[in-house]
Amino acid sequence: MQNSIDALKREFDCDIQNAKDLKYIEEIKLKYLSKKGPIQQLMKELKDVPSEKRPECGKWINDLKVAITEQVELLHTRFIEEEEANLLKNETIDITLPGKRRFFGRKHIITQVLDELLNIFSENGFSVQYGPDIDSDYYNFEALNFSHDHPARDMQDTFYLSPGMLLRTHTSNIQARIMETEKPPIRIVAPGRAYRNETITARSHVFFHQIEGFFVDRGVTFADLRATMDAFLAKFFGKDVETRFRPSYFPFVEPGLELDIRCLNCAGAGCQLCKQTGWLEILGAGMIHPEVLKNGDIDPEVFSGFAFGLGVERLVLLKYGIKDIRLFTENDLRFLKQWTSG
Ligand code: PHE
Repeated sequence: MQNSIDALKREFDCDIQNAKDLKYIEEIKLKYLSKKGPIQQLMKELKDVPSEKRPECGKWINDLKVAITEQVELLHTRFIEEEEANLLKNETIDITLPGKRRFFGRKHIITQVLDELLNIFSENGFSVQYGPDIDSDYYNFEALNFSHDHPARDMQDTFYLSPGMLLRTHTSNIQARIMETEKPPIRIVAPGRAYRNETITARSHVFFHQIEGFFVDRGVTFADLRATMDAFLAKFFGKDVETRFRPSYFPFVEPGLELDIRCLNCAGAGCQLCKQTGWLEILGAGMIHPEVLKNGDIDPEVFSGFAFGLGVERLVLLKYGIKDIRLFTENDLRFLKQWTSG
């Protein structure tokens, strides 16, 4: 028995000297201390030892077991600590390295200009209202004095979603809606997208943004429209701009007109931007048609008003000299990143 114990001790001493890493020490632990290991085996063999020698042998085996366990545990802990220390060493953060550049999102140029326009009108007493992009034929056309067979319906190629339902072709649907919920004085601006089934080119798109303006009260006149437009244009372009009203037709206004400004590029001499006319078309406007007021339950004998609808993309093109409306929706960061404020 004593020989076996000594042999095992020597074998262990040899094994433990070779233990260089955690994996190895775990193997040794398994080899010597598991239930089927040599120590348990010796314990079993004790019963064959003559009884007077048995306590002594038992003590040897036990001492060996304690010694092996202690050494194995000691190394096991040391290797684990070493491994953790190594991990930490490799993970060290170098605080002198330059930080990663973050890309900050920003408002789209259209949104920036939209906000700017709404601010200008808010300062002039207009409150902001919204309406649905998907609307009925009634609010987009009928309430605005487009009868069913009215040729003006062809002016705006409409995306129909189902019979009677459509993507609004202009933000004027909000005029029709606002009169149902509010009574004069009403002074609102309503931003939103408008949709038209048109060929996409540098100048036109299937959707774009408009701001509708709508003012109804007692005694509102054409002069109020003119003054409101002049104030807005001066603020937006940062200088007084020469304007002209040109007669035009929209079924929901009478008289209807288009507002032009002196060409920003050539100051009227004639250039490519203004197609040699010296003028740039800015928006549609007019005095609200009595029928439209009646549809909104407002008495045209008592109240009058003006409305205007401006295209936001067009204003951005003009103000910043952008040549192609498609750039706004192509999400090319090289283009979008130029508009940093906001
Ligand atoms: N809704 C018209 C358009 O989209 C613009 C407009 C608005 C004209 C209000 C007159 C008054 O073309």
